[in-house]
Amino acid sequence: MLEISTKLEEALNRALVQVFPKEDRSPKATSILTSALLVPASKPEFGDFQINCALALAKEIKQPPRQIAQQIVSQLQKDNDFLKICNTPMIAGPGFINLSINTKTLISEIYIRLNDKRLGVPLKDFQTAKEKEEQKNNRVIVDFSSPNIAKEMHVGHLRSTIIGDSLARVLEFCGYEVLRINHVGDWGTQFGMLITHLKEVVPEALHTKDVVEISDLVNFYRQAKKRFDEDQIFQNQSRNEVVNLQAGDQESLTAWQLLCNQSRKEFQKIYDRLDIKLTERGESFYNKFLVDVINELKSKNLLINDQGAKCIFLDGLVGKDGKPQPIIIQKSDGGFNYATTDLAAIKYRLTKSPDGDGAFRLIYVTDAGQASHFFGVFQIANLANWIPKDCQVEHVPFGLVQGEDGKKLKTRSGETIRLVDLLDEAIQRAKEDLTDRLKTENRSENESFINQVSTTVGIAAIKYADLSQNRVSNYQFSFDKMLSLQGNTAPYLLYALVRIAGISRKGGDLNVSSKNIQFNEPQEWVLVRKLLELDCVIAEVEKELLPNRLCGYLFELSQTFNRFYDQIPILKASEPSRTSRLALCSITADTIKLGMSLLGIPTLERM
Ligand code: ARG
Repeated sequence: MLEISTKLEEALNRALVQVFPKEDRSPKATSILTSALLVPASKPEFGDFQINCALALAKEIKQPPRQIAQQIVSQLQKDNDFLKICNTPMIAGPGFINLSINTKTLISEIYIRLNDKRLGVPLKDFQTAKEKEEQKNNRVIVDFSSPNIAKEMHVGHLRSTIIGDSLARVLEFCGYEVLRINHVGDWGTQFGMLITHLKEVVPEALHTKDVVEISDLVNFYRQAKKRFDEDQIFQNQSRNEVVNLQAGDQESLTAWQLLCNQSRKEFQKIYDRLDIKLTERGESFYNKFLVDVINELKSKNLLINDQGAKCIFLDGLVGKDGKPQPIIIQKSDGGFNYATTDLAAIKYRLTKSPDGDGAFRLIYVTDAGQASHFFGVFQIANLANWIPKDCQVEHVPFGLVQGEDGKKLKTRSGETIRLVDLLDEAIQRAKEDLTDRLKTENRSENESFINQVSTTVGIAAIKYADLSQNRVSNYQFSFDKMLSLQGNTAPYLLYALVRIAGISRKGGDLNVSSKNIQFNEPQEWVLVRKLLELDCVIAEVEKELLPNRLCGYLFELSQTFNRFYDQIPILKASEPSRTSRLALCSITADTIKLGMSLLGIPTLERM
């Protein structure tokens, strides 16, 4: 409906200029006549769109609102482009104008979707001459997942991974070139103690390739930390190791590599299971730029020396005690911070190639707890003039994952949950549900079918449960809810697809090529209109970066489809209704599949 609503808006603007010439408008009238004039109808029985400006305008120009509405309508009816798309506008109540799209336009939109893999969603065209001339690029960076080496990849990272991947998919689909960056925490003082511990426990690893598998890096980290906290000598050795590492000492670098590789392997297992593609570019990558960052900030007079540390104080940034809170760019011992690396990263990412990535939009997907970090970093980057006018940097925050008790998600014995266990349990439970259902339905299926369905449903349920929440709020993790066949869940959407695949198995040809599509029933029209909303929804996700909008849409679509399926015959209908309804089934299936693929969720034909 994006294109249609644009055309309607243009027609409306043409009409308004006729009725209220620009030079005669008061400032107030101008503001009324330039703000969002066309809005979606508040109820389906009002049609598709509504124009409400007559009411706001009435006071200002001292005319009855219905009379104003009448003038606008008469003018619209002289507009050929408008008449091609819309039925006669209706004036309702005190002066609302209701618009409904005519049958011919709706049906031609349906034909378009039958033959278009993109289902009517436009591909961004970045090739306009002007943009080429300005060397404007279409590159976006999504910084997501980003766990820390040798530490646990926790549920927060899982959220970042799932949300970030889905945003990257939507932006790729819109036509942007997306760099999916894994900003892993692979640098910092903790490597001193890790390397010292490694050298002591498995010294042979430093000289012989692949002799060691640190099966439990998290435990390894704990041991190292314990020794660091308890043993003065170990502590000193660790500090030396940091210095060695930063100086590029070969043995320390080998040990560091080893630790990173080990973590990488563990992370990759999760990414493979979730079908996530990422390019690793960790904190260590920005090392070589940190000194320049400090120098540039210094030369721009932004740094303040606070007890030996180089800091920046920003307006609006206060600590828990209410006092101004500095952002430390360089510690008094010369060490750099998380923020320093992020400043170098912003600069690099926005600098044109070959010296940087040359992206125009940077998106950071992390928990809301890091909001003030990004607020600070973005502000500093702005003060330093590192963010060009036509570029955008955004933090995409998300809330905590909680257990059903509303507290932090833990195992029964109170430990943090490992991500692999979470995925395994979802799949296991999906398998139990499926086995029960097969029994009640008296079906028998082979082992490979059962495994394939439960893996798909388990992973789909976890991802969908996360994405369907407004990411900003905390979200309660519940296996029962996410696996339920009822409600806004992955299984519910998957089931709608299975129903449609079933229609095809029963002989309904979903490859509709008929040129005689007709609709008569209200259930058909409701579904048609729902199907046509897809492009607007995707445009919204692209802008607002809220995948739950897409989930909400797919849920409504599935509900609308199920009503249609339950209330009117499809295969038993006579022609041309039968084929026309099959066309709706086919577009519904394609829409859900496309939507799910943009969420990074696998689908299936039978379950
Ligand atoms: N490693 C960080 C963490 O685990 C997340 C990094 C996010 N990205 C960034 N550019 N700061 O919390």
